[in-house]
This record gives sequence, structure tokens and C-alpha cells, in this order.
Amino acid sequence: AAVKNTGLVVSNAYVAPDGFNRSAIVVNGTTPGPIIAANKGDHLNINVTDLLSIESMNKSTSIHWHGLFQHHTNAMDGTAFVTQCPIVSGKSFLYSFDVDKQAGTFWYHSHFNLQYCDGLRGPIVIYDPNDPYKYMYDVDDASTVITLLDWYHVIAYDVGAADNPAGILINGLGRYPGGPNVTLSVTTVEQGKRYRIRLINMACKPHILFSIDQHNFTVIEADGQAMLPLPVDEITIYVGQRYSFILEANQPVDNYWIRAMPGSYASNFTDGLNSAILRYVGAPDTEPSNKTWPLTNPLVETNLHPYSNSGVPGLPYPGGADVSIDLVSIMDNTTLLFYMNGVIYRPPSTPVLLQVLSGAVSASQLAPQGLVYTLPPNQVIELSIPTEYLTNPHPFHLHGHAFHVVRSANSTVYNYVNPVIRDTVNIGFNTGVTSDNVTIRFVTDNAGPWFLHCHIDWHLQRGMAIVFAENPNGTAKADAVDSAWEDLCPTYNSLSITE
Ligand code: C2O
Ligand code: CU
Repeated sequence: AAVKNTGLVVSNAYVAPDGFNRSAIVVNGTTPGPIIAANKGDHLNINVTDLLSIESMNKSTSIHWHGLFQHHTNAMDGTAFVTQCPIVSGKSFLYSFDVDKQAGTFWYHSHFNLQYCDGLRGPIVIYDPNDPYKYMYDVDDASTVITLLDWYHVIAYDVGAADNPAGILINGLGRYPGGPNVTLSVTTVEQGKRYRIRLINMACKPHILFSIDQHNFTVIEADGQAMLPLPVDEITIYVGQRYSFILEANQPVDNYWIRAMPGSYASNFTDGLNSAILRYVGAPDTEPSNKTWPLTNPLVETNLHPYSNSGVPGLPYPGGADVSIDLVSIMDNTTLLFYMNGVIYRPPSTPVLLQVLSGAVSASQLAPQGLVYTLPPNQVIELSIPTEYLTNPHPFHLHGHAFHVVRSANSTVYNYVNPVIRDTVNIGFNTGVTSDNVTIRFVTDNAGPWFLHCHIDWHLQRGMAIVFAENPNGTAKADAVDSAWEDLCPTYNSLSITE
């Protein structure tokens, strides 16, 4: 275990990843930002400095470490108005936390307004020195991380609900219809070697259909959880999700298209659009000649099973949970606002964590309007999310936890034995014939207010979120946040925050 010190400087800059120049938010000068790499057991100190200057993309910020549990360090979760006041321009905030119990593929992004869509995002990889799958691959480094995102030619506030992105960027590069033939991302492989590819969907809107011409994959990780090896040839990855898969460079030396088709709007793949290049060492420095192959074996979530499985928490059958919650989401088709059990999420003016620490422990004290659900400690929670009133898929992310998906979208089967464990799940929608009712279980072993929300950033902005205030009485203040909070929270001195 080691202490890793990193600095992230957030600022505005013009970028042209697809040849179209626009202003954006960059991290240490680039978007996506630099990869944060650490080993399981390390302690991370990440000093975030806000130098943002363009008001239309917001000058304040906060950074969330998506998928890291923040066990005992809820205050480091980086969720504006849930765990902290935003960092204001000109100030810094030190995020300091352990990654003791986790390894896998994660990412970081702004958790303030729509900022991540304007560029504030990057990959995190936590390597496991004792990875049980080490024998399955030869290479696992920064070159095998593949990020996917949707890119727009206007700032996020100006993207309409029905607007499509200009294109998909792979590792921060891409093209758009009618645009210049800018350089695409190239992943170089050596024939005969096996690669652990870490795929991250950092998009703001679409789920993405990912494949590589002439190559199969073996999935071994979902959202930071080791899975039993699952052979597939196509992966649908929802916003916020991650997968690791083994790619064997077992085809003739050549160039092959890496394809990332947006799943939720019509845009046909044409050579070079929504794509990157897999290049074998020895192949010419050219673009692939088009060679698809029939995709017959897509990833299906119910086929994913955990590598180490102790069963679903709670007695392994319906009714075995201690607390059951139904969360009915409704989209108002006129206002486009989302109601969660009748409530539109709006950020409170005092972050929920500060309210908890100043003695508000009941849901009604915390948020009379019903945004906050208190959860008792050490209980099994079963959460179902019916979708009668939704007509599009929504990827839901829970902070502070991973959960068992006992019922997946597109499925009516309940698996209480060995379902996938993850932190971001597609809740599906109402097809007009059937409607999904995704059901998850988790144990309240991590005190603090944790966000649960749709990861499509415009949906979060329009109210598709709640906060779980888990074990309010047991919520601890992380060390050394007082001065930061005093600095950033206007009302801090009027709150009576005690340990
Ligand atoms: Cu990836 Cu609440 O976020
Ligand atoms: Cu949504």
C-alpha cells in the first residue's frame, strides 16, 4: 500500500477532438482528463484546483470518483449539495481517501450541474496485485483503457432533449458527419498476446454498442466487480458502466475497426465515424478496409455471474429483505421533468451531509419535500424501480455501494443466487407491451448520504434522483474537512456541526 498524491487542475479551454473547435472544461489541459492509476490498498490524495472562468459552463465544481465506495469517507464523495458545497473558482479541495477494498475500472467526473458533459471526466484504474485473473492476460496498462463518450458542438446547457451528439469519441478522438478526417485513436496489439481492455462509458446520454471487427471478447469485470469469464462479441454499455474483457490478438496482422455505435439514436456506422482502430504490430499505418462480421453473441446482463459469490444478501427469496422500497419514476411529457415517487429532485441549499452532521436525522428534517430517504444500518435493502411511465432506458447509479441486480431489464426472472453485482444498472422502460421492474439489493454497511440517480446528466438535472441518508446517527465527519467546508459553505458557521 502506498500514498498517491495527484493534482487535478480544472480549467476552460478550446478543444477540437473531432476537428470542430469549441470551448470546454479540461483537466490538466485535456479532456478526458489524465488516468488516475493506483493499487488496491493505496491511499489517494487528489488536490482539485478550480480555475474555471466561463460562467455558462459554471465556474464552481466538485469531482466524484464513480464506483469508489468511500467507506468512512462520505465527505470525499464529491457530490455537490449531497456531500459538499461546490468548490468555487480560485479555490482548491483536497480529496483524501483509501481504496482498500476495491479493484477494477472506475472513472471520475464533475458532479456539479451539467459539467461532465462539457469535458470534466477521466478514467480511474485500481490494479489488484493479486488479481485472480492475472493468468488470463499479458498486458493491462494505460494503453488498454478505452473511454467512450458522446460529443456535442454546443455546451451542455444548449443540448435539447431530442438532440443527438455530433459523434462518439473513443479515447477522446472522433469524427462527425461532414467533418474533417482527423486522426482516430489507435490501440496497438501484438499478434499472439492477450490484452485486458478496460471499457468505460463516460457519455452523458446514449448507451453504446461496442464491438471490434473479427474479434471476440471474454468479459471478466463489471463495474469494479470480478465476473466469471463470459464470452461475447458485442457489448451494450450504459452511461456510467464499465467492463473489462480479454481481447486475444489472434487474427491476421492487419487493421480492424473498433466500433462504438450510439444505441439510442439513429446514426449508421460509416468508416471512421464512431470508431477507432485496432492495429496489429506490423500492419500498415492506414485505416482498416471495412470488414464487419456477423455479431451473434451479445452481452446479456443475466449471463453475468460474480467470480466470488456468497449469494444475494437477505434470505435468498422474495421478501427476504429487511426494507423494501418502490421508486416509481414518471416523466412529465410537457415539462420533461422527472418525478421520483412524486418528487422532482432539486439540490438542497445546505448539503445533506452537513445537515446530517448538524443533527438532522429524520427524512422529514433532512428534506421536507421528500428527496431524502433514511436507511437504517446493517439491513438488507431491496429497491425496485418500476418503469410503467418511462419510454426510454435510464442507467441508475448508486453511490457508496455495489448492489446485486436480482431482476434485470428485459427480464422477468428473479435471481437470488448469483446475479451480477454492479453500481450502475439500466432500469429499462415500458415497451408498450411489457415494462421493466429492475430490482436490486444491497446492505447498509456504509454510513452517509449517498446519491441514487439516473446517469443521463440532463435527466438528473431535471429531477431524476433521490438521496439515501444511510445510518444518519453513525455518519462520521472525515478528518480535516472543517476548514475546507468553512471556506466553501456560506452557511457553515451557522450550523452546529459536532462529531
Ligand atoms: Cu457517476 Cu452520481 O455519478
Ligand atoms: Cu434517465
